[in-house]
Amino acid sequence: MSASKAAPVRDRLRIAIQKNGRLAEPARNLLAACGLSWRESRDKLFCYGESLPVDLLLVRDDDIPGLIADGVCDLGIVGRNELDEQDAARRQRGLPSAFQPLRALGFGQCSLMLAVPEEWEWQGPAQAEGTRIATSYPALLTQWLQQQGVQAEVVELSGSVEIAPRLGTAELICDLVSSGATLRANQLKPVQTVLDSEAVLAGAVLAPDDARAGLLSMLLRRLDGVVQQQDRKLLMFRAEENRVAALAQLLADAEPLVRLPGEGDVLQLQTMCPGPLSWQRMEELERAGAQGLMVLSVERSLA
Ligand code: PRP
Ligand code: ZN
Repeated sequence: MSASKAAPVRDRLRIAIQKNGRLAEPARNLLAACGLSWRESRDKLFCYGESLPVDLLLVRDDDIPGLIADGVCDLGIVGRNELDEQDAARRQRGLPSAFQPLRALGFGQCSLMLAVPEEWEWQGPAQAEGTRIATSYPALLTQWLQQQGVQAEVVELSGSVEIAPRLGTAELICDLVSSGATLRANQLKPVQTVLDSEAVLAGAVLAPDDARAGLLSMLLRRLDGVVQQQDRKLLMFRAEENRVAALAQLLADAEPLVRLPGEGDVLQLQTMCPGPLSWQRMEELERAGAQGLMVLSVERSLA
């Protein structure tokens, strides 16, 4: 084989997502909302893009940063925890960054936290001095301990970290906490946040400069349209003219009220709200004179 073999021309984007687990379903739904569709292969590890030349690779979340680093995939949807862990591990080994978060996606929120047995009284990071801490995030934990100036032994475990204190292999753990149920079930309590995480779209440090570049920027634009609209709500209601000023005050965080023609002195009004509207807020608006309140989700928009 010749060493000067040119890199193969790639005109399809390849995105790695989690095959099973917390991020799998929302990641797929998000990409579908961006207009992507796939013909699934029999083993479902590779999904061939139909509507656009964008293929999916279904893998373990831990493998996603490496697939991007190796150029096997252009993009990945993965927890910031996993991305930062592998980036910190590369740095600790003297390797340059190979992947980066491109967009936060607004789902998969969780935190990497230090947790201790429930009966402990936690006074702060200094209390970890001289302890053993079990974790699947050794690089992030090591980095955090250094920042805190705390010396502790990092015990790396690939799973079931939460049983380490009971087994006597560590005193503390450092693990992902979402609902907190896993910690409670193991008589542990979270005491210190090491990293707040959510799902991100990750890409290579060097963006592609061939046909994939155009695809990537189109996908990012669509993604922004979907993600930024996710929480926006279109609010519609009717109100008598003399109630409009008070209602506008209750909707100070929304866009200015748009008045549409109504019947008599009852106006039809609408506005765009930046976030979801609680029942409590709708009831407040009703008391202030809003009738027939209706909240609609925004499906997509182009900025
Ligand atoms: C995390 C973590 C805990 C659990 C915590 O695992 O390791 O087991 O979630 O969630 P809870 O606070 O809602 O109980 P995850 O499902 O992310 O899988 P992974 O770490 O093996 O990828
Ligand atoms: Zn995992």
